[in-house]
Amino acid sequence: MSNEKNIAITIDGPAGAGKSTVAKKVADRLHFTYIDTGAMYRAVAWKALQEKGACDDEAAIAQIAQKLDITLEQSPNGLRVLADGQDISEEIRTPAVSHVVSAVAKIGAVRERLVSLQRLLAQKACVVMDGRDIATHVLPNAAVKIFLTASVDERARRRYAELKQKGFSGSMEELKAQIAARDKADSEREISPLVKASEAILLDTTHLNIEEAVEAVINEAKAHI
Ligand code: CDP
Repeated sequence: MSNEKNIAITIDGPAGAGKSTVAKKVADRLHFTYIDTGAMYRAVAWKALQEKGACDDEAAIAQIAQKLDITLEQSPNGLRVLADGQDISEEIRTPAVSHVVSAVAKIGAVRERLVSLQRLLAQKACVVMDGRDIATHVLPNAAVKIFLTASVDERARRRYAELKQKGFSGSMEELKAQIAARDKADSEREISPLVKASEAILLDTTHLNIEEAVEAVINEAKAHI
């Protein structure tokens, strides 16, 4: 549970809704710590691909999650993700990792380990934490809860632009199908599925730019803290 002294803002929502960009900017503005929980699931998926070449052996992946030391380091270039000390910030964003991460995230033992890590981080500092189950499960007592979404077309368009800039190829249609498949897997899994907490504020960013979305979250935060 989050420490009463530390304030938490949660931002949940589907793939590519802009959570990490918005969460990072909100954290900077409020001098809070930004915690990207998706990066933690991605780190486990990356390690599983490294060690096993696949993500179908749940017991093996649970063990990997148990052993892996995951650190989120704030740096001038944004959040760096370290796995056993190795900077894997770029590696975890590849389409290969995106493709398998939902299968890793549905494993109970993986979630237990990462959720306890996430709660510890929220005890140590005021945080903006983004993910899928932060308001519903990780920090149910958070002061401010946002559910950030956008149409699947707009989310695919944003992710396509991001990946293209990094030099990845692939078609927009393919990417849209992958995003929709990940949304479905995340929403339909048994443990802590992606769902809007009833008390969370719904923020549809389909027609909002980043600054407008940041402003909306800050206004919401100011009203509650
Ligand atoms: O940035 P993007 O929206 O593509 O996804 P992400 O936030 O990096 O999360 C990657 C994956 O991790 C999600 O598709 C979920 O399967 C999983 N995840 C989760 O299950 N619970 C969280 N709190 C955060 C991410």
